[in-house]
Amino acid sequence: MPIGESIIEAKTILENEGIVAIPTETVYGLAANALNENAILKVYEAKKRPKFDPLIVHIGHINQIQKYASLTPKLNKLAQEFWPGPLTLLLKKNENISDLVTAGSQRVAIRIPKHHLTSQLLNLLAFPLVAPSANTFGYVSPTSALHVEENLGSKIDYILNGGSTEIGLESTIISEENNKIIIHRLGAISIEEIENFMNEKIELQIQNNSNPSAPGMLDKHYSPKCKLLPYLPNESPDPNSSIIWYGPNEPEGYDEILNLSKDSNLNEAAASLFSALRSLDKSNKNLAYVKFVPETGLGRAINDRLKRAIRN
Ligand code: TXA
Ligand code: MG
Repeated sequence: MPIGESIIEAKTILENEGIVAIPTETVYGLAANALNENAILKVYEAKKRPKFDPLIVHIGHINQIQKYASLTPKLNKLAQEFWPGPLTLLLKKNENISDLVTAGSQRVAIRIPKHHLTSQLLNLLAFPLVAPSANTFGYVSPTSALHVEENLGSKIDYILNGGSTEIGLESTIISEENNKIIIHRLGAISIEEIENFMNEKIELQIQNNSNPSAPGMLDKHYSPKCKLLPYLPNESPDPNSSIIWYGPNEPEGYDEILNLSKDSNLNEAAASLFSALRSLDKSNKNLAYVKFVPETGLGRAINDRLKRAIRN
């Protein structure tokens, strides 16, 4: 499977029902024509993703949105502020969005990603792109073209290489219900940022069980093969284990320390999180401990991913 920086190559494949990994500012997505069911099915198949878990539709420009969904005034305000960027909105869908995209829901998830290659690609195409994270269902999300190649290389037609993703955590998923803003997935835009911008309290409806009524958001997710346990300061560690750490004062007694950010910087920790989880499997580790980060700003989304990764 080729890997390269050719937008034209990616465009041609997508126009012919192919599937292409695309860079975004959050994680790499596995893209297909969002208006073509044959192409969409290939995405579910390559990811081994159950069809009850719907896909995000990616568009290039806000003026395309009314073709696919209806924006409310409140969500429009958020879109104007945060697009292009890591914000996904759940909106009432139009007829032309297939049930295969939304898993039968009347709402479609839409976002405008921020990456120069993918923006150019979207603006050249005559259709939007579905793009779930480009990893096998349940595994760690990819933050580089190499991650995609290692996990899905043989199953996809092209990887558009846009370097390492800038943020490293998925988009924040938001809806509006009864005039209230609701967060469905913690992500790259923090609760605080949204509350400050909207000047109102927002509600969290994060799915946390393994048989979700709202699809997606499964309990076990983002999981490496390596067994993970929460770090407990007073326990003596298995000497062959690794530890995923945050901040200075690294502990002793571990075979390997993967420090997400020595300077206690949450942006840096977000950007290195998925690489750290994947590196455990690369070095065939059997056990790793995980230190949680402060539960503030981006830290909430980082801890959300760590907790789901641990439940395996
Ligand atoms: O940052 C991101 O959002 C990345 C990049 C590639 O854009 N995409 C991503 O997609 O994380 P995915 O499929 O890995 O996660 C999307 C989540 C899933 O948990 C899915 O259930 C939820 O969004 N979702 C998608 N459409 C939905 C819908 N119509 N209603 C409710 N949840 C939806
Ligand atoms: Mg995903």
